[in-house]
Amino acid sequence: MNEIKLGHVVRALAVFLIAVVMLSAGALAQQVAATTVKPGMRAGDANRGKALYQACAACHSIDENDVGPRHRGVVGRRAGSLPDYGYSAALKGS
Ligand code: HEC
Repeated sequence: MNEIKLGHVVRALAVFLIAVVMLSAGALAQQVAATTVKPGMRAGDANRGKALYQACAACHSIDENDVGPRHRGVVGRRAGSLPDYGYSAALKGS
């Protein structure tokens, strides 16, 4: 009798755990979908962009070539196309 009850408890616990895992996976997928930039999307959070860009600024600046090429005009220009930056062959040929 007690063994059967224990079996029920274990099964209920397993179902609960699976439900928790599925819910967390769903929440994670929603978060990923929300942060993916899609074509035609409107301007995002400028302050967040500013904070994120600080990591890039270790190698890039807007107007001068540094470790990485300058970023002004990067949106829309062909990758690896600045005439005064020494790109890798891989990026130049991309
Ligand atoms: C550790 C240094 C470093 C960091 C940090 C870095 N980059 Fe770069 N980036 C480079 C280098 C070096 C190149 C050129 C690579 C090549 O020639 O193959 C480059 C190239 C680029 C290019 C291509 C530009 C062009 O003219 O074709 C873009 C766009 C770019 N990086 C964006 C970013 C962004 C956005 C970040 C931050 C999220 C970032 N980079 C962080 C070093 C860095």
